[in-house]
Amino acid sequence: MTEGTSNEHQVQPPSGLGVAMVGHAFMGAVHSQAWRNVHRFFDLPLTPRMVALGGRDAQRVKEAAGRFGWSSVETDWRALIERDDVDLVDICTPGDTHAEIAIAALNAGKHVLCEKPLANTVAEAERMTEAAERARANGVYSMVAFNYRRVPALALARKLVEEGRIGEVRHVRAVYLQDWLADEDAPMTWRLRKEQAGSGALGDIGAHIVDATQFVTGDVLTGVAGFTHTFVPRRPGPGGTEEPVTVDDCAVFTGRFASGAVATFEATRYALGRKNAMRIEINGSRGSLSFDFEAMNDLWFYDAEEPGATAGFRRIVVTEADHPYLKAWWPPGHLLGYEHTFTHEIADLLTAIGTKTAPQPSFADGLRVQRVLAAVERSAAEGTRWEQVDSTT
Ligand SMILES: NC(=O)c1ccc[n+]([C@@H]2O[C@H](COP(=O)([O-])OP(=O)(O)OC[C@H]3O[C@@H](n4cnc5c(N)ncnc54)[C@H](O)[C@@H]3O)[C@@H](O)[C@H]2O)c1
Repeated sequence: MTEGTSNEHQVQPPSGLGVAMVGHAFMGAVHSQAWRNVHRFFDLPLTPRMVALGGRDAQRVKEAAGRFGWSSVETDWRALIERDDVDLVDICTPGDTHAEIAIAALNAGKHVLCEKPLANTVAEAERMTEAAERARANGVYSMVAFNYRRVPALALARKLVEEGRIGEVRHVRAVYLQDWLADEDAPMTWRLRKEQAGSGALGDIGAHIVDATQFVTGDVLTGVAGFTHTFVPRRPGPGGTEEPVTVDDCAVFTGRFASGAVATFEATRYALGRKNAMRIEINGSRGSLSFDFEAMNDLWFYDAEEPGATAGFRRIVVTEADHPYLKAWWPPGHLLGYEHTFTHEIADLLTAIGTKTAPQPSFADGLRVQRVLAAVERSAAEGTRWEQVDSTT
């Protein structure tokens, strides 16, 4: 044996999982970062191998693969699914492509990670869930990428609710506020076309607060009433011609959870000054919790069991080693960011696949969110007994 190649000098990686990803823009970059680094921080039963990146333009997909660390490229997602070295397909494309890619991948025996919202319609989400359940019977797993479940502060919030620290949940108050569409001249994007995005702020960011509140409370929404609005009905499209905006710009709705808890939701991309303010407050019979993604390392906790004179919302800096996911990272107070939520998501997915456990949130969870979105749209379309208020004096 030549020097330097003896077994004692070699590092044995855990068994690998061949990953292919479709789409290489915003989510493609974020997911690539997670696939590249996850096994360097988390102890995992499987190490991802970034074997292939899919995109439609040969030049652009090649550049992206080089930058993000993928070993090869395909210009048709179908070719990715046919490859023997691909065990998992990660879908980072707009909603109109999710159902077709996910169902084909699952039927071919590939695990699937699919970006949210799961689909553009309930019917698509139902077909995806059926395919996921059939595949699961053969040891093939799937997960929908609601990454906010993996914010340590929200995972801690869930734990506190589960432990009864805020008692019985009475109020759930959630908003998701961005402002990137407030400029009326901002150009058209696929996110503003119903046939590609399914819906607007509702499915894009409203889906996150529906999933996150169901996750934190461990409960499900059983009814909603709301309305949507489009502030800017036309936008400059490609080539300078105006194109109609066919989705909502904002959605405002109320809801009721199975437990009886009362909820309010607002999703908008017109809240000037708010960049990614995903805020959740929960009031229970023994205390309250409050979270704002723009300060994502903090969870605010009001414990009503404390003496009135000193009780108050206290800030928990969620960076202690015994907080969810934090053992893998830095010393206390060395803050985490947006990208870590995806690393956590992929760590959980690899652990689930490696231990043959169904990952969460499942496609069935994604379908549940889709049904809430569809119910909001029905309520908005039917005009839920909107009472006029006399405003003449
Ligand atoms: N989890 C989150 O926080 C989060 C944030 C943003 C977007 N998303 C979701 O991620 C998905 C992608 O959004 P994005 O922001 O990355 O969009 P994007 O526009 O930045 O990227 C979309 C990518 O998909 C590619 N694409 C489109 N159609 C394709 C096709 N038929 N075949 C192959 N590639 C195709 C585009 O070329 C591009 O690379 C959407 O479902 C979106 O809702 C999730």
